[in-house]
Amino acid sequence: MISNAMASRINAQINRELFSSYFYLGLSAQAEASNLKGTAAWFMAKHNEEMTHAHKMYRYLVDQDAAVQLSEVAAPPPETQSVLQMFERTLAHERAVTSAINDLMDHALSEKDHATNVFLHWFVTEQIEEEATVSDILGRLRLFGDQGQGLLLIDNELAGLAKQMGQAAGAGAEA
Ligand SMILES: [Fe+2]
Ligand SMILES: [Fe+2]
Repeated sequence: MISNAMASRINAQINRELFSSYFYLGLSAQAEASNLKGTAAWFMAKHNEEMTHAHKMYRYLVDQDAAVQLSEVAAPPPETQSVLQMFERTLAHERAVTSAINDLMDHALSEKDHATNVFLHWFVTEQIEEEATVSDILGRLRLFGDQGQGLLLIDNELAGLAKQMGQAAGAGAEA
């Protein structure tokens, strides 16, 4: 059993994960509209991944006999100007999520809530990986440009990354 204060913070994080999912769905739609199939697939894979994060937290609350409280999910921000801006927004978004996860961890530690502390480790590690991946993509966009052939190259790379993420998710579901 976890405290009500801890449960309410985890519920708030469920909302952030659902918003992340919605945020990436919006970017995927925008990429589709620009015929960037690889970019669209990458954001769609992120959309699915964020849903699994929300589900993990949901399951944790259920397992801890804590109430799940779902609230309104905010609309994603308006369309971006460019693919570079899509990834700049993605990095800023993931950094904000990292800081929210760190706050959750601070709270678990302040309550000496060992179960939630251990549960949150997965998310701490996940955020390191997510920020690193997005920084890498941004670096390549800045290097090769987000127009013409540079964009085609990155769109193809993103198609490959999306496929890997899909396979990893499939393997996770089997485990
Ligand atoms: Fe997430
Ligand atoms: Fe994320």
